[in-house]
Amino acid sequence: MKLEQTIFLIGFMGCGKSTNAACLAGLTNTARVEMDEEIANEQRMAIPRLFETYGEEHFRNLETEFLKGLLTQTPGIVSCGGGAALREENVQLMKRLGKIVLLTASPETIQRRLKGGKGRPALGGRADIGHITELMEKRRARYEAAADFTVATDGRSTEEICAEILRRVCGENG
Ligand code: S3P
Repeated sequence: MKLEQTIFLIGFMGCGKSTNAACLAGLTNTARVEMDEEIANEQRMAIPRLFETYGEEHFRNLETEFLKGLLTQTPGIVSCGGGAALREENVQLMKRLGKIVLLTASPETIQRRLKGGKGRPALGGRADIGHITELMEKRRARYEAAADFTVATDGRSTEEICAEILRRVCGENG
């Protein structure tokens, strides 16, 4: 299928954005854009180091700059950092380019996928269920407000999830 607009995958760390972005890019024959990876490459610094050295606000500004840069690119699949959709300006930039899909998973699934949370500075070194649940609840309203639609990932295969995403994006197009 030909992708007419960019698909942004948003959601909590470990909800499956990268895995599903890779699958969607294959299915649509478009580029997969890993926001974190691109920012780290541009800055020549790993994300935890960026947080540590310049602080979270600076990293959030880099995310906004990165999204602005996408305005001139052809449609693709963007796997966003877990905090990218928390800033309204970012959400508006994403909306100008395409559809925003929120992926969800239970705190237990997230914990299993994060394997201790190493390399996730936003967790502050705590990958216990209580902390994951708390942070997830804090973010839930903003994630939901940003999303065009939500896809649950618990217990489902990547193929199933991506088929649902494409069906819903195409359905909404026509
Ligand atoms: C963050 C999530 C990370 C990364 C950064 C901050 C967050 O991305 O952007 O560590 O605030 O949730 P992933 O969701 O890909 O882990």
